[in-house]
Amino acid sequence: ARSFTVLALESSADDTCASVVTSSREILSNVVVRQDDMHEMFGGIHPYIAIEAHQRNMPGAVRRALEDAKIKADDVDGIAYTRGPGMGGCLSVGSNAAKTLAAALNKPLVGVHHMQAHALTPMLTAPESDLPQFPFLTLLISGGHTLLLLATSLTSFRILATTTDESVGRTFDKVSRKLDIPWSGMGPGAALEKFCATDHPGIEIPYIDPPLPLAMLGELAFSYSGLHSAVDRYITSRKGIQNLDLPTKLGLARAFQAAAVSQLEEKLALGLKWCQHHTVPIRHVVVSGGVASNTFLRERLKECLYQASPDVPVALLFPPPVLCTDNAAMIAWASMHRFLSGDYDDHSIELRSKWSI
Ligand code: KG4
Ligand code: ZN
Repeated sequence: ARSFTVLALESSADDTCASVVTSSREILSNVVVRQDDMHEMFGGIHPYIAIEAHQRNMPGAVRRALEDAKIKADDVDGIAYTRGPGMGGCLSVGSNAAKTLAAALNKPLVGVHHMQAHALTPMLTAPESDLPQFPFLTLLISGGHTLLLLATSLTSFRILATTTDESVGRTFDKVSRKLDIPWSGMGPGAALEKFCATDHPGIEIPYIDPPLPLAMLGELAFSYSGLHSAVDRYITSRKGIQNLDLPTKLGLARAFQAAAVSQLEEKLALGLKWCQHHTVPIRHVVVSGGVASNTFLRERLKECLYQASPDVPVALLFPPPVLCTDNAAMIAWASMHRFLSGDYDDHSIELRSKWSI
């Protein structure tokens, strides 16, 4: 049968995204218009600026997604968009554009859960021979979420652990800012990773007292505010970041990154234990969300899985970095089963800025 072609829009945070994906797992186009530079001055996503940028960029993103895919709007079979969760004003730009397209072109409409889309991305990107099989564990680590999920079907996810305060991504962002690391065209989290990888002789991991915390040890919960304030306290005790020489600053950045990742490792191992205890056989762990593009983290988690399950191999699946951060290809893919089963949304459907998974 001819494959089903979806045009999807994503605008839940600061990236304006449009993509065309088919039910045969082909990504025909994937347009991401980033706004990082505009938000750098404010040190974070400024809601009004983000909304205005989505309004400015969405029409062009849609046109480019269609052009790149070499498809006419009328030949698209369905329109998908991010219904939530996210910033309300931002979501409304993509939602209104999607509904209008669906109404004008007379195509079916599906509103997608952003986090489900992150979790399902490997089903679009993994090689056919290595698709994740349900049940699998998902570590969703982004600016908005720090979640360990048990995925048992395309639509059922059980939250094993979530953050009690800050998200891991936001903590990377804040610490990157505190360390005064220039974004240089990427986001603050990626800039911090790049900074940590700087080659520099004589790096000293600074002695931090008390040491950077491993929060909620032994519990299925994340907490990042303690780590964030420990970094703050260290900088204050040195009378400000301008008084840290490069090797110390580098050491502090690396200590932070290592501690942030250690917490993820510990929770992932706990999650696997939970599954063993509840006789849920896990063969795949999917790690997605913006923070999953961190290469240091990828290496560490691989090692951690091997340690946690030496006898039964558990495969670690990462979407390619461009599909770890926000994108519309994942939205298109998460909508596919609903289009294929005729489960469409009405044009009057409301968005859900808060929406549990
Ligand atoms: O998934 P995403 O693009 O948007 C949300 O849904 O939040 O994730 C963005 C988050 C930001 O906090 C960003 O700093 C972080 O992911 N991030 C990283 C890296 N790349 C992006 N954090 C650490 N290392 C990276 N390489
Ligand atoms: Zn996201």
